[in-house]
Amino acid sequence: MRFNQKQFKTALQQVKEQLSLQVELPTTPLHIFETLPSTNQTLWELLNQGATIPRVVIAAQQTAGRGQWGRQWQSSIGGLYLSVAVAPHLKASNSAHLTLSSAWGIARALRSYGIPVLLKWPNDLLLLDLKLGGILTETRVQQGQITKAVIGIGINWSNIVPESGINLQSFCQQQLNPQVTSLEMLAAIALQGLLSGYQYWLEFGIESLLPSYLELLHSLGSQVIVDGKPGIITGVTPTGELRVSVNSSTGSSDISLKPGRISLGYSSKP
Ligand code: BTN
Repeated sequence: MRFNQKQFKTALQQVKEQLSLQVELPTTPLHIFETLPSTNQTLWELLNQGATIPRVVIAAQQTAGRGQWGRQWQSSIGGLYLSVAVAPHLKASNSAHLTLSSAWGIARALRSYGIPVLLKWPNDLLLLDLKLGGILTETRVQQGQITKAVIGIGINWSNIVPESGINLQSFCQQQLNPQVTSLEMLAAIALQGLLSGYQYWLEFGIESLLPSYLELLHSLGSQVIVDGKPGIITGVTPTGELRVSVNSSTGSSDISLKPGRISLGYSSKP
């Protein structure tokens, strides 16, 4: 097995202490696989068979990893592939809260370990302007309410990454005193971070979380072009849309863009 469960459980406890978290995980069922198509898919299959929530699935590799916009997520050995099932009872129109709170929680947890991660709207983790990882949230909706959600995280550890990506192990190896030393430790930081972001959102709501999310938003204040007009990114709305102040000959106006309306791009490696 390429993912060491014992090492992971020890790391979960260490991370909880280091981050002074209240999140208790000992009773959360955990399924670890060597290879599967997609941790999100397997978690849905378990839920469809009556598995309880919360629940976590981790795989050492995926053969059909799912990315945003129906893209494939390259999932070779060495990366982190982890999904968490939650039951939020949230309006479907607010589904972005799950991705925003998870990304925020993971970024904050990684930053506590000396990794200067930023957020790229709507669902990416950035390191040195390159893609470190991404989040894919899938939901089941009944009568306009999300009853179940699977939040999947992919983070590059020692796997090969595309031109716009970065892997965390290489970054850590260049640090004087690296604090993240294994895939299992990264998994523990990501899981505790995700759950602490989720708990914070459950307790205090999105309005309270957003100011802190914006402090980590990579492109805040950047210039963008929307429908041929220049604008400046000014924030993210409580429903997860990108807020842009657009200039035209008649003055400036605020608009909100749904995910997918514009692409913010990445830097490329030197
Ligand atoms: C993105 O496109 O940026 C989101 C990628 C999310 C990938 C993760 S890997 C674990 C989980 N299982 C999947 O099939 N996808 C998510």
